[in-house]
Amino acid sequence: MNAVIRSTGTYVPVRRLSNDELPKELGTSDEWIVSHTGIRYRHLAADDQAASDLALEASRKALHRGQIEPEEIDLILVATATPDFVGFPATACIVQEKLGARKAAAMDIAAGCTGFIYGLETARGFIASGFARNVLLIGAEVLSRHIDWQDRDTCVLFGDGAGAVVLSADSSAQPTGVLDSYIRSDGSGARLLERTAGGSRFPFLLGNTPQRDVYLKMDGRQVYNFAVRVLVETIQLLLERNKLSVEQIRYIVPHQANIRIIEAAAKRAKIPIEKFYINIQEFANTSAATIPIALAEMQGKHMLEPGDLLLPVGFGAGLTYGGNLVRWTAPHHL
Ligand code: ACO
Repeated sequence: MNAVIRSTGTYVPVRRLSNDELPKELGTSDEWIVSHTGIRYRHLAADDQAASDLALEASRKALHRGQIEPEEIDLILVATATPDFVGFPATACIVQEKLGARKAAAMDIAAGCTGFIYGLETARGFIASGFARNVLLIGAEVLSRHIDWQDRDTCVLFGDGAGAVVLSADSSAQPTGVLDSYIRSDGSGARLLERTAGGSRFPFLLGNTPQRDVYLKMDGRQVYNFAVRVLVETIQLLLERNKLSVEQIRYIVPHQANIRIIEAAAKRAKIPIEKFYINIQEFANTSAATIPIALAEMQGKHMLEPGDLLLPVGFGAGLTYGGNLVRWTAPHHL
C-alpha cells in the first residue's frame, strides 16, 4: 500500500515581526540578520495561542482541501518541540479532540526540527501495515515562548507556525507517495541544542532554576557544521539509493534554519541553489513546521504537479537528521 500526500494546510499567526522591529537594546540589525541568516520576518503566536491552536487551524485547511471528514482520520501525529504541555498530554490528543477526530489514535513526535521528516516515514509505516487509511501529520511550533528575547544569538532565528498534511492509502500498482526515507540520530550532539529545565533530568524548580536553563540554548557554530554535513549526506544517499540524478528531482525542500546552511550544502553537493525551495525570509525557523509550511505554500503557488519528485531534508535537536523521497500526488488547491 502506498502512502500519498492528499492535501496540505498551513497556519501562521497574524503578528509579523520584522528585523527592524526588534528592540534596539538587543544590539542587532536587519543587515546582520539578513546577511547571516536570510531571515527578514517571523510570525509570533498571540498570548492565548499554543501549539495545538496553530496545529488545529492548519489541520482544518488540510482536511477541507482533501475533502476528508475528521471521523475518517485513523491517526494524528504532531511533530513538535514546543508542545502545549511538557511530556503529557500529547499535543496530538488536544488536536484530536478539538478537531472531532473521534476514531483517531494520537501521539506526538519529538525529533526536533526533523520531526516532520520522521513523521512522513511514521505515517507511511502505519499505512503500509494496514493500521491506518488516513493519517493527519502536523508540524506545529510556538518557539517564541522558549527563547530568551534578550539573547541576540538565538532570538532572531525563530518563529511560530504550523503546517499539516493528510496522507492516505493508495493501492496503485506503481510506487508513489512516500517512496523512501533516510532518518538518523547522532545523540553525541544531544546537548548542543537543548532546553535544559523542565524534564526529569533537571526538573523545573520555582525560584531555583537559573533563567538561562528555561530557554533554548544552542552551540550555533557546531550545529551549523553538522547541518551542512548531514544535508549533503542525506541528499546524496537518497539519490544514489534510488538511482536518481538531481535533475530528476523537482525540488529539494530543506529545513529552514539559516539560508547560509542551505547555500553551503548546495555548493558542497554541487546542486544549483534554484533546486532548493526557500522561504526562511518570511517565517524564520519554525522547527518541525518549516517543511510542511513550505509544502503547503508550494502547492498554493501551483509549483507542484502530480508526478513531481520532491526531497524534503532536515536536521535538528537530538541531533536528528534525514530526508524523504516523495512522489507528489495532490492536485492544485481549489
Ligand atoms: N546580531 C548581531 N550580532 C550577532 C548576532 C545578532 N543577532 N548573533 C550573533 N552575533 C555576533 C556574535 O556575538 C559574534 O560576535 P563576536 O565575534 O564579537 O563574538 C559574531 O556575531 C559572530 O558570531 P558567530 O556565532 O560566529 O556567527 P555565525 O556567522 O556563526 O552565525 C548563527 C551565527 C546564525 C547562529 C549560525 O551559527 C547558525 O545559523 N547556526 C546554526 C543555527 C541553527 O541552525 N539552529 C537551529 C538548528 S536546529 C533547529 O532548527 C532547532
